Amino acid sequence: MMRSVHLLVTIAFMALASSLSSAYDPSPLQDACVAVDDPKAAVFVNGKFCKDPKLAMADDFFFSGLHIPGNTSNPVGSAVTPVNVAQIAGLNTLGISLARVDYAPYGLNPPHTHPRATEILVVLEGTLYVGFVTSNPENRLISKVLNKGDVFVFPIGLIHFQFNIGHTNAVAIAALSSQNPGVITIANAVLGSDPPISIDVLTKAFQLDKDVVNFLQSSFWWDNN
Ligand SMILES: *[C@@H]1O[C@H](CO)[C@@H](O)[C@H](O)[C@H]1NC(C)=O
Repeated sequence: MMRSVHLLVTIAFMALASSLSSAYDPSPLQDACVAVDDPKAAVFVNGKFCKDPKLAMADDFFFSGLHIPGNTSNPVGSAVTPVNVAQIAGLNTLGISLARVDYAPYGLNPPHTHPRATEILVVLEGTLYVGFVTSNPENRLISKVLNKGDVFVFPIGLIHFQFNIGHTNAVAIAALSSQNPGVITIANAVLGSDPPISIDVLTKAFQLDKDVVNFLQSSFWWDNN
């Protein structure tokens, strides 16, 4: 009796450990799980309801318009056009997505992280200075200047950026290892949260005067996504 209880506990623990270690979009259990809004028509999988796979059609796996440049007339001079499960319902459960990023001359895709995805980026036009920073305690900056045709990887969760150092527009396509990678833009999240983080927290965290933190918190933090 004691032995079988012990065995059960061990099996339960192993099941828990394997589900905790699966920190990525789960493997699909069927060919497709096209996301639908209507729960009556559907089964709930991976945060979305799935359409009956027999009813899946080409348009569930289709997006048009990635040839259209994003509008970079904004304070950071860049624009991200996402193509994830919000745009293509058929990406549900598949663990992959895309984005187009446009950069005005000297435009910046500001330091941000994707909590659920590694990113691989290819430069189609222009010259980008890109980089990411490794975790504590090293916080090493790994950076490079990329030209047309160059590819760079930003590991999951790490803070990264791309800066157009050319005097012409730049364009890149990013592939991400999640149907819903998420974006946390560092300045926006920390200095522009709603409601604001207590000034006592930020003055201590950044070792800055209240006036500087007040100024930063009252600044407008553009979201280029
Ligand atoms: C781009 O954005 C700017 C600022 O919001 C706006 O004035 C302009 O009309 C937009 N351009 C296009 C082509 O949508």
